[in-house]
Amino acid sequence: MVQRCIGITFDDGPGPYTDQLLQTLAAHNVRATFFMVGTQVQRFPEVAKDVASAGMQIGNHSWNHDDLTTLGASGAAADITQANDLIEQTTGVRPELMRPPYGSTNSSIVNAVGMPEILWSVDPEDWKYRDSDYVANYVSAHAERGDIVLMHDIHQTTVNAVPRILDNLQAQGYTLVAVDTLLGTSLPAGKYSQQPSADQR
Ligand code: NI
Repeated sequence: MVQRCIGITFDDGPGPYTDQLLQTLAAHNVRATFFMVGTQVQRFPEVAKDVASAGMQIGNHSWNHDDLTTLGASGAAADITQANDLIEQTTGVRPELMRPPYGSTNSSIVNAVGMPEILWSVDPEDWKYRDSDYVANYVSAHAERGDIVLMHDIHQTTVNAVPRILDNLQAQGYTLVAVDTLLGTSLPAGKYSQQPSADQR
C-alpha cells in the first residue's frame, strides 16, 4: 500500500513556543522539518537542541531572514553557510536543506548555495491570520497527498492550531512527515515545492 504523505514544515524559529509544538508532534508521533533562522538559534540555543533531540529534521532558513536576492549570489551563499555553521555548532546537525526567506530565490542563488531549496504548496498565511481556528481549518481543508505545508512556530496561534491539524489530517488517513521522508535524501540542488508524484493523487 502506498502511503499518502504530507510534508509538515515550520519556519522562522526556534522560539518561545517551539517546545510546546514538540510536545504536540511527539503526542501525534509526527516528525516534521524545522527551517531555522541563525539569529533565532543564537537567541534560543537550548530550544534548537530540543528540536534536534526530538529527532526532527532541521533545515536552514538563512542567517537573519534577509531576502537572499538582495545579497547577490556570493552574499547569499555566505549567509547560508553562516547559518549552517551555527546550526551545526549548536545542534550537532548540519542542515541538508534550505528554504529561502519569502521564497525569494533565483537560479544564480540556487547554483551558488548548492543546496536543495524547499518551497511549499500549502500556505495558510499564519503570519497574517493570527487565528488558530482559521489556520487549523485552512490546512485541514487544503493539504493533500504530496503537499508541503508551510507554518511558523514563532506564532502561538499557529502552535495552538497544530493539534487539530494533526488530528484532522491523520483522521483522513494521511501520514505526516518531514521533507526528507517526503522527497527522499541526497536531493540535487534545485527548487522543490511538493512531491513530484503528487500529480497522481
Ligand atoms: Ni520565514
